[in-house]
Order: sequence, then C-alpha cells, then structure tokens
Amino acid sequence: MSAPTSVDPLTMRRTIGRFATGVAVVTALDGDEPHGMTVNSLTSVSLEPPLLLVCLTTGARTTDAVVRAGRFAVNVLGARQEEIALRFARRGADHFDGLPLRYGDHGEHEVPVVPDALAHLECTVDRHFEAGDHVVVIGHVRQVCDRPGAPLAFLGGRFGDLTERGSEPVHWFF
Ligand SMILES: Cc1cc2nc3c(=O)[nH]c(=O)nc-3n(C[C@H](O)[C@H](O)[C@H](O)COP(=O)(O)O)c2cc1C
Repeated sequence: MSAPTSVDPLTMRRTIGRFATGVAVVTALDGDEPHGMTVNSLTSVSLEPPLLLVCLTTGARTTDAVVRAGRFAVNVLGARQEEIALRFARRGADHFDGLPLRYGDHGEHEVPVVPDALAHLECTVDRHFEAGDHVVVIGHVRQVCDRPGAPLAFLGGRFGDLTERGSEPVHWFF
C-alpha cells in the first residue's frame, strides 16, 4: 500500500482508475446536430423505476446537448469497439463525421445511436445537477436493446476485454 498523497486531479484519476469499468458512448441531438462522448462513469441507480446515471464534463458539447434535448442514449461498447471509444473521446472533434447516422427506437428520430454497440439504453433526463467540474445526469430508461458479446473494459487508463470465466451466474442477479 503506497503512502497517502494529496488528492490532486491526476492522483484522483489514477486511483479511481483501479476500479475496472465498461465503456459507453453517451449520444444526444442538439437541434439537428448529433453529439457523443465516451464515458466510464455509467452506473445503474434504480430498477423500479429504471434509472441510471452518468457524469459529464461541464461545458462539453454532449453535456449541453443532453441537458437541452432532455433525452439521450447510452451505447455500451463491445470489446472490438476501442476505435469508437477513442473517436468519441477526442476533444473538439466532429465525433459522428463519417459514421452512418442511426436513431434509437424511442420517439421519432430523437436520439442518435452508435451502430453495432453491445447495448443501447434510451433515456429521458429525470434530473441533473452540478457536482464539482461535472454534471450528474440521471436518466429514466425508456427503451433498451442488447446483443451477446464481450464488453470493452477500461482499467488503469487502458482498454481491455472481459471474458466470462465460466463461473456460475451470481444467483441473486439473474
Ligand atoms: C475511457 C474513457 C472514459 C471517459 N469517461 C468520461 C466520463 O465519464 N465523463 C466525462 O465527462 N468524460 C469522460 N471521458 C472524456 C470524454 O470522452 C472527452 O473529454 C470528450 O469526449 C471530449 O469531447 P468534447 O469535444 O465534447 O469536449 C472519458 C474518456 C475515455 C477515453
């Protein structure tokens, strides 16, 4: 165990990075313009009603699009979608440039989605609030779809993949 250090942003990022996560892209429309941002701050909040949360950098275009539109999609990435994760993490880039534009099933062309993602969760914004340098967005999940496959993982600043190790499913979960 290393000695305690002062918790500056890099230390915080490095230490919380020991917590392995999946990787998703949050997408939303701002007017006609699609925006998206790679995130790993995705957490399930409630099953009844179905709520999830994501923490989005204050002032990023996707954050503004989510708050303004009041709806967004969470696109869970598969193990082979590292390029998509990098594309949607590039600051200031036109993230959808060259990608075929697809829309979710909830509503009428209201939320763009990332093609071939492992899962889509389409949400309306239940509430949002600022916390430090991020906006915490709680989404009410309105429509979902998923497909089998290994998820993209993120740990210690690197992408990886998770394979199911063949253990029995945790019985209270499934
Ligand atoms: C694996 C990974 C996870 C990330 N998770 C988050 C996150 O949860 N929240 C966030 O605001 N930014 C996160 N980022 C950074 C954003 O993806 C990045 O700042 C953003 O897409 C830049 O877009 P912009 O041009 O709108 O600023 C993450 C980046 C990576 C590579």
